[in-house]
Amino acid sequence: MASSTTLCLGVLISLILFHKLHASSSFSLSVEKLNEDVIVSSPKPTFTAGFYAVGHNAFCFAIWYTNSPNTLVWIANRDHPVNGKRSTLSLLKSGNLVLTDAAQFQVWSTATATTSKQVHLRLHDSGNLVLLEDSSNNTVLWQSFDFPTDTLLPNQPLRGSTNLVSSRSGSNHSSGFYKLFFDFENVLRLIYQGPRVSSVFWPYAWLQSNNFGNGNGRSTFNDSRVALLDDLGAVLSSDNFTFRTIDYGTVLQRRLTLDHDGNVRVYTMIDGEEKWVVSGLFRPQPCFIHGICGPNSYCTNDPTIGRTCSCVPGHSWNNAQDWSQGCEPNFQSWCGNTPQESNFLTLPQTDFYGYDYGLYSNHTYQQCVDECLRLCECKGFQFNFPKQDGQGSQCYLKRQLLNGHRSAGFDGAFFLRLPRDFDDIGIVHNGNGMVCGGSSAVEEVLARPYTKEKGNELVKFMLWFAVALGGIEVVCIFVVWCFLFRKNTDNEGYVVAVETGFRKFSYSELKQATKGFSEEIGRGGGGTVYKGVLTDNQVVAIKRLHEVANQGESEFLAEVSIIGRLNHMNLIGMLGYCAEGKHRLLVYEYMKNGSLAHNLSSASNALDWSKRYNIAVGTARGLAYLHEECLEWVLHCDIKPQNILLDSDYKPKVGDFGLSKLLNRNNVNNSSFSRIRGTRGYMAPEWVFNLPITSKVDVYSYGIVLLEIITGRSPTTGVQFTESESESGHNERLVTWVREKKRKGSEVGASWVDEIVDPALGSNYDMNEMEILATVALECVEEEKNARPNMSQVAERLQNHDHDSR
Ligand SMILES: *[C@@H]1O[C@H](CO)[C@@H](O)[C@H](O)[C@H]1NC(C)=O
Ligand SMILES: *[C@@H]1O[C@H](CO)[C@@H](O)[C@H](O)[C@H]1NC(C)=O
Ligand SMILES: *[C@@H]1O[C@H](CO)[C@@H](O)[C@H](O)[C@H]1NC(C)=O
Ligand SMILES: *[C@@H]1O[C@H](CO)[C@@H](O)[C@H](O)[C@H]1NC(C)=O
Ligand SMILES: *[C@@H]1O[C@H](CO)[C@@H](O)[C@H](O)[C@H]1NC(C)=O
Repeated sequence: MASSTTLCLGVLISLILFHKLHASSSFSLSVEKLNEDVIVSSPKPTFTAGFYAVGHNAFCFAIWYTNSPNTLVWIANRDHPVNGKRSTLSLLKSGNLVLTDAAQFQVWSTATATTSKQVHLRLHDSGNLVLLEDSSNNTVLWQSFDFPTDTLLPNQPLRGSTNLVSSRSGSNHSSGFYKLFFDFENVLRLIYQGPRVSSVFWPYAWLQSNNFGNGNGRSTFNDSRVALLDDLGAVLSSDNFTFRTIDYGTVLQRRLTLDHDGNVRVYTMIDGEEKWVVSGLFRPQPCFIHGICGPNSYCTNDPTIGRTCSCVPGHSWNNAQDWSQGCEPNFQSWCGNTPQESNFLTLPQTDFYGYDYGLYSNHTYQQCVDECLRLCECKGFQFNFPKQDGQGSQCYLKRQLLNGHRSAGFDGAFFLRLPRDFDDIGIVHNGNGMVCGGSSAVEEVLARPYTKEKGNELVKFMLWFAVALGGIEVVCIFVVWCFLFRKNTDNEGYVVAVETGFRKFSYSELKQATKGFSEEIGRGGGGTVYKGVLTDNQVVAIKRLHEVANQGESEFLAEVSIIGRLNHMNLIGMLGYCAEGKHRLLVYEYMKNGSLAHNLSSASNALDWSKRYNIAVGTARGLAYLHEECLEWVLHCDIKPQNILLDSDYKPKVGDFGLSKLLNRNNVNNSSFSRIRGTRGYMAPEWVFNLPITSKVDVYSYGIVLLEIITGRSPTTGVQFTESESESGHNERLVTWVREKKRKGSEVGASWVDEIVDPALGSNYDMNEMEILATVALECVEEEKNARPNMSQVAERLQNHDHDSR
């Protein structure tokens, strides 16, 4: 039904705009008339084809969005740019379309031939450039859809014979190192093919292709090998991979691009804004993409400069301008040289994926060391300590250190083999701010000046008319879809949940789940939270946003999708959202034991020391992930015990993050933050003194929460403050009190923690842990933000101690 309506609409528009068709017949385009010699798509002028400047005096023949001229969707000669003088694209009488460099060399052609007198080159408004033979059945001689570069447009199939190849970098459009393709097993994969190594990194290697039923399973049995992005936002592949964008269900302008960083993203154009937002992402964690950091280096995601690579200790860059070339050891190998003794250096939370020499289960650490020493090529090993759930220890010996990454969320550690007398083990860190992936140090930013064609008023009117009709159509389709497929929605929702982590709810569904928003369980963060039960009996927490920012649905979706992408065991999981009319609701997992604030203040005394310590560690990990792991840098800005929630095992999860952009806070100076955010008692001095806001504001608030966990004293209760009092004054009491105790303690040489500890704990606590926690807490609440540690350092310190003590 949908397609027939679309067809009718198409015919209608074609009829109305008949005399306006920009179709081109046999001709030649010149690079010297960059702005005039273009082909505009018809019936709608969505796309433009022409010469595009890719460097100094270097041009490619490309197709781009008319209203987004730097977004190329197809390039004829990406690896062979032509000269800015006398280069042409010509349609020859023989039926061949050729691109000639400086009137001399043919650098590209469609290699087509025909005997027909009439051949047309036409750019459809789907973005497909088509060479048509003019016969009664309009045979397609050649089409750009059959030769994708790095982008698929809606309904453009990716077939077994073709693939997508990323660009070299953000500004260099020539072929890069990543490829999306169907392999010989009929499975759609992402591969990194670097100058020295190549490896497949998607789907996960450990999800074997015959492993069905887990939502990631791929079928190897369908050899049609075809994948496409449909108009509604689903990616469907013949190996049974399905993926839906977060704004799935509406016909919007979309594209799927294999970006130069190795990730596949689906982009949606925000209506009327000519701005692209990411509406889907194949690999959410950038450091899991292979080839970013070469051998002997590891990837971290730094909040301020993005992904960075660092050499492992004792190694230096092969080429500091190109991290993908990796690092070389500053010492001799153990093989074929005079024997030297080895030492093992711990690299916490670091993993080198793949290239195992062997896996030894249930080995002790010492046995693992011995295995490594037996092998001259052994560069170190990954060692996972035995888990509480009964899983034994695991020891992976490595001969090569590839695909390294380091993240606060990773439990294991790597043990690097270094010569015993090797002292140059300072971590060589490339901090020059270069973003990984680029090869040339100097990349020109290529902005091609572009003037929009003045449209004819009639055309404009007709387009708006068509858009309106389209809108009505979408509504109708939606209504019919609801009627027809109502029964299926549970199922569909499940698929979405598996692929993207969450689904869309209807307002009535949520109203029903909360029995008309009757059971309120919390307030704050711009909304009220209600308890609800979904139709599958899952208990959820539903947050109804009050002060919703003045933004359209697609923008809301874009923001929500960022939050929805954050998956970490110490962050509250978002299960879905609802955006209907003025209603904006977020659906979260329900936390049985309520907030930390509730538990600290309750008389039941449920929080013993080990729970408190684990809450401190878990919260630090959650925040570290938030600050350093996720795609967009998310500051929480409102850390307090009310926002730390406890599940049935008292494991902490941080809630209410990422809401800043969804809410309507009166923004001052157009900055993305209003001046005062957060909650009194937990706010860093930067807010008060109007200093730049960084992730260190969360560190400060976290420090206050630690002091509260230790002392049981809230920084906000007990004392009333007047408006005129310095806004930072009120935190001071708790902090000053603890600092004072510490100072006095060290003067008399007595233990100071005894004095500050929550009386409810009695003497049931671990002195060591207590001292570490209190010390870290005081560092976190330093006035000067640079003196505070960052969240992953905090997580590391608390966690490492955790290790030693068990
Ligand atoms: C783009 O990258 C290719 C391959 O590394 C290189 O040969 C070419 O010079 C680069 N082009 C520009 C404009 O930097
Ligand atoms: C239709 O196209 C085919 C090639 O696909 C061609 O051989 C045939 O002659 C065309 N038919 C007519 C009637 O032109
Ligand atoms: C592929 O997906 C369809 C529908 O989602 C399902 O019925 C079928 O069992 C899947 N095939 C395999 C081999 O997993
Ligand atoms: C193979 O995949 C194509 C495209 O997804 C689908 O139309 C076809 O039904 C599949 N064939 C089998 C045997 O599952
Ligand atoms: C390792 O130890 C665990 C528990 O001690 C046991 O269940 C498991 O079977 C052992 N694995 C191997 C490979 O020996």
